[in-house]
Amino acid sequence: MIKVLSVFGTRPEAIKMAPLVKELEKNENIQSRVAVTAQHREMLDQVLDLFDIVPDYDLDIMMQGQTLFDITCRALAGLKEVFEIEKPNLILVHGDTTTTFVAALAAYYLQIPVGHVEAGLRTGEKYSPFPEEMNRHLTGTLSDLHFAPTPLSRENLQKEGVPQKNIYVTGNTVIDALLATVRQEYIFNDPVLDSIDFQRSRVLLVTTHRRENLGDPMREIYQALKEIVEEYPDVEIIFPMHKNPAVRNVVDEVIGDMPRFHLIEPLDYAPFVNLMQKCFIVLTDSGGMQEEAPSLGKPVLVLRNTTERPEAMEAGTVVLVGTGREDVLRETKRLLDDTGHYRQMSEAANPYGDGSASARIAQGILYHYGLKKTPPEKFKG
Ligand code: UD1
Ligand code: UDP
Repeated sequence: MIKVLSVFGTRPEAIKMAPLVKELEKNENIQSRVAVTAQHREMLDQVLDLFDIVPDYDLDIMMQGQTLFDITCRALAGLKEVFEIEKPNLILVHGDTTTTFVAALAAYYLQIPVGHVEAGLRTGEKYSPFPEEMNRHLTGTLSDLHFAPTPLSRENLQKEGVPQKNIYVTGNTVIDALLATVRQEYIFNDPVLDSIDFQRSRVLLVTTHRRENLGDPMREIYQALKEIVEEYPDVEIIFPMHKNPAVRNVVDEVIGDMPRFHLIEPLDYAPFVNLMQKCFIVLTDSGGMQEEAPSLGKPVLVLRNTTERPEAMEAGTVVLVGTGREDVLRETKRLLDDTGHYRQMSEAANPYGDGSASARIAQGILYHYGLKKTPPEKFKG
């Protein structure tokens, strides 16, 4: 029996760790524990409720307007105590948040092995995305087991000298979560979403939250979106706003009250991905949505200058647009006006996973600890 402690703190980590936690829980050779830093509060709790996960530890560290220093210090102190009490055989972390990096650091200080889920994504730019690129890189350096979602992320790790035997190519667990949640006949039960006729209107689903986009880049993006709504009477924009007040201040300043531009609270994961399935285009600076939307056949305009997820760009379903007003206008109009271009971009692609990533990760752990004779079959991408 090995004790595996999964640590996470924000909405996307929770979504992507939830299927894995469920997989670990049902394995008789694994004792599964969960600690959340609660770097996010409401947005984390939405996911814990949906997937019915009750953490063994909740550090409740979130503060309004927290800095990177706040998150780092509070999580590091809290996790030290949890790790000393639990003494797990393996700590699992996910992705690139500050919770991720700090959990890996705390594990290293206590000489506890670390498994990194969603390892090996890189832009190669130290400050883009900030601080995620370095969080992921440093977490990788501190990790013993690397669960690379795609063959490309495995190659990135190998180039940095990670031995092949410590890397498992698994697919991304976000596709496990997505496939378990999207339904053909989903009913929203939400006044705004129920008021929209998805047959007659073209719905643009928008989210923005990246630290490097706060301020002027967001101003430019929102200005472009306003112009789109004014010019196209059949377009409706749904914008579930991130809870970060720094995002909401710019939204209030630039958008305000506007017909067919729906500013709403963050949606629970189930209505959110079912809305993604019904929408026309996704515009986002989110990492996870760049992985989900291609699987649903939705074109994605990425509102960033770099991406650590080039696979869907290569598949043709994602365009890296940047944040300039004119760039956002041009690429959005192109999708709205050119049906051939839209059709090409909306061909479903699954470069990120096949729904079995969590099972592969659990098997990889068992194989690594000698509790299973064969390694998991690789995800081919
Ligand atoms: C964090 C991660 C980012 C990830 C994103 C997902 C870091 C440094 N950043 O960024 O990598 O892509 O989460 O969304 O790890 N807030 C609430 N309630 C919530 C969540 C946030 O009120 O449930 C507000 C708080 O005022 C908080 C602020 O949002 O201080 C920012 O949260 P924080 O986790 O620091 O940064 P994010 O931009 O959410
Ligand atoms: N998401 C959600 N509700 C929302 C917006 C996003 O459940 O209102 C989900 C989305 O499907 C994806 C994840 O949250 O799985 C992305 O989180 P976020 O954009 O906050 O972080 P990132 O992916 O950029 O790290």
